[in-house]
Order: sequence, then structure tokens, then C-alpha cells
Amino acid sequence: MSIGEERLQRRMARGVEFLGSKTAILCGAMSWVSERNLVSAISNAGGFGLIACGAMTPELLDAEIAGTKALTDKPFGVNLITMHPQLFELIDVCAKHNVTHIVLAGGLPPAGSLDAIKGNGAKLICFAPALSLAKKLIRSGVDALVVEGMEAGGHIGPVSTSVLAQEILPEVAEQVPVFVAGGIGRGEAIAGYLDQGAAGVQLGTRFACATESIAHPNFKKAFFRASARDAVASVQIDPRLPVIPVRALKNASSELFTAKQREVAQLLDENKVEMMEAQLQIEHYWAGALRRAVIEGDVDNGSLMAGQSVGMVTKEEPVADIIAQLMAEAAHALEKRAA
Ligand SMILES: Cc1cc2nc3c(=O)[nH]c(=O)nc-3n(C[C@H](O)[C@H](O)[C@H](O)COP(=O)(O)O)c2cc1C
Repeated sequence: MSIGEERLQRRMARGVEFLGSKTAILCGAMSWVSERNLVSAISNAGGFGLIACGAMTPELLDAEIAGTKALTDKPFGVNLITMHPQLFELIDVCAKHNVTHIVLAGGLPPAGSLDAIKGNGAKLICFAPALSLAKKLIRSGVDALVVEGMEAGGHIGPVSTSVLAQEILPEVAEQVPVFVAGGIGRGEAIAGYLDQGAAGVQLGTRFACATESIAHPNFKKAFFRASARDAVASVQIDPRLPVIPVRALKNASSELFTAKQREVAQLLDENKVEMMEAQLQIEHYWAGALRRAVIEGDVDNGSLMAGQSVGMVTKEEPVADIIAQLMAEAAHALEKRAA
């Protein structure tokens, strides 16, 4: 083993121990993309796969976990969205399958969910979009954090990964494992965040078009052609309807999203929906738009959610090659640091 590899292993040791995987590289859950094939491929290759539950029913999640287990005996986790109306049934399904790690996305854990998850013996991972929230989540008992910056694909916050990492890692990295996400395309960046105290990293965009990903060939082609500046954040058109920005490749669907916001804003104006329902309608819009692109291959009207690292995704590669490349780049960066 080279000095670089040995250093990388040491820096990843805590994340590896927490996840039970060979490397501390998580593949972030991607709705429609992170299903049994990609998740099992990631875990089989030494990463940590996460099933994207999204809007799945408990029955569908049940089948997806069972299907994933049939393809890997390595650990993997499940990503649940906090606003899912059947969140507690989904937690029960995870318990039935002894899922070891649950990621809660889309806000702070709703009342009772933390106890339900931890009571079942699973480890709970939450997103920390600011230092104050990171501290609050740790106080409430979460086991690990993901710190994700606005370079990421999908739903994003307003702050960059580099700033969030600087603000959050020095304060909390000794208390719980922290995984940094957003804009990571190469191993040198992984080495950098590990040096800052991260226990590991989470990547989405870099894995979305792997050979094992079921994403439509048109979706993959759009990724291979795109550069960083093509992955833009959606725009909120009505100040009364706060929508979480989504980063995706530019296409005609941004106009469809504008039209959707107008339609929902009007329903709000006419008191036909409450704010919560309005925001849920927006989320359903995104789930449908992403499905159109990922599953049906409609790259004009569907949503091509992608992070700014998309420019570093140039061809279809097996997951194992991507992970090997990231690890080699990280080890090389750490090796050079010795000189
Ligand atoms: C196509 C796509 C779909 C995504 N869907 C979800 C999701 O359903 N739930 C979630 O928590 N994160 C989702 N994400 C975010 C990823 O899990 C991951 O955190 C992010 O991609 C990391 O940043 P990166 O894209 O710069 O690598 C999605 C990302 C992409 C690219």
C-alpha cells in the first residue's frame, strides 16, 4: 500500500466504520435513479448505496429493499423524505428489513420519527444546511450529518459546499461523522474535505450515468454533453410561493416550471389550497418531471437534475471504475502532500 493509500484509509476510517462499507463514499439518493441496480452496484463496489424512496408507497419500498438485498449482501441505506404522508409506515418497512442506515431528507425530522428510527436500531443521518441546524440535530440525537452545498444536483440550499464545510466541520466533526456533498467530481476534492475533518463524502451527479444506472440513454447523453454552467438553479417567480430551488440542466422544462408556479400561485390567491398543499404540488411536479427525463428519456420537457460537477461526467463507466478512480485520485493527492 502506498503512503497516499494508507493516509486515505486512515482519514476514511471513521466513515468506513460508521457505514460498514469499504470506502466512505456514499452515493446520494436520486429519485428514479437510485433503485436496486445502482444501489447494489455501489455497495458491491465498496461504496455505500442509498435507495431513493421519494414518493414510493410502503409496498413499493418493501419490494425495492428486498430486490436490493437479492443483489448485494453489502450494507446500504434508505433515503426517506420527511414530508411523505406515510413516513412512519416507511420507517416500519425499513425496520422489517433491518435497514441499518436511514437518511431523512427535506427538513428536520418530524416529531417521533427520530425515536422510531433509532428505536428500531437503525442509524439516522440528516442534512445540515447551516451550523446552527447541525448543532440542533446533534443535540436531538442524530448519528451523522450530510453537509451539502448549492453546487449539488436536485434540491439545493443557498450556500456553497466550500463555505458550509469551513463553517460546520471545525465545530462538529469531532462529535458525529460528517459527510460532505455537492460539486465533488474528483478524488482530489475528497482528499481536501477529509483533511478538513469530514468522515467521508456523498456524490450523486458523478454516479447518475454509471453503466449500472437505469437512467434512459437520452438522459445519460445529456449529462455527457453538458458543462458546469449548464447545471442551473430553478427560479422562484412568485414571492408568495416559496419554492426550494432545484439544480438541473437547462432545457424547455424551466418554462413548464414557471407555468406550474403560476398555476399553484393562483390556487393560493383563490384560497383553493393551503401553503403546505401548494408546496406539495410543486414537489409532485418535480417528481413527475424527473421521471419523464430519467425513465422516459424526454430530455426536453423532463427535468435533468444535475450538479455542477456534470462537466466531469463524460462517459458511461461501471460504478467500480468510478470508485476506483476517485480513490486513486484522493490517494495521489494525499501522497503529494508528503513532499
Ligand atoms: C438526478 C438527481 C436526483 C436527486 N434526487 C434526490 C432525492 O430524491 N433525495 C435526496 O435527498 N437527494 C437527491 N439528490 C441529491 C443527491 O442525493 C446528492 O446529495 C447530490 O447529488 C450530491 O451532489 P452532486 O450532485 O454535486 O454530487 C438528487 C440528485 C440528482 C443529481
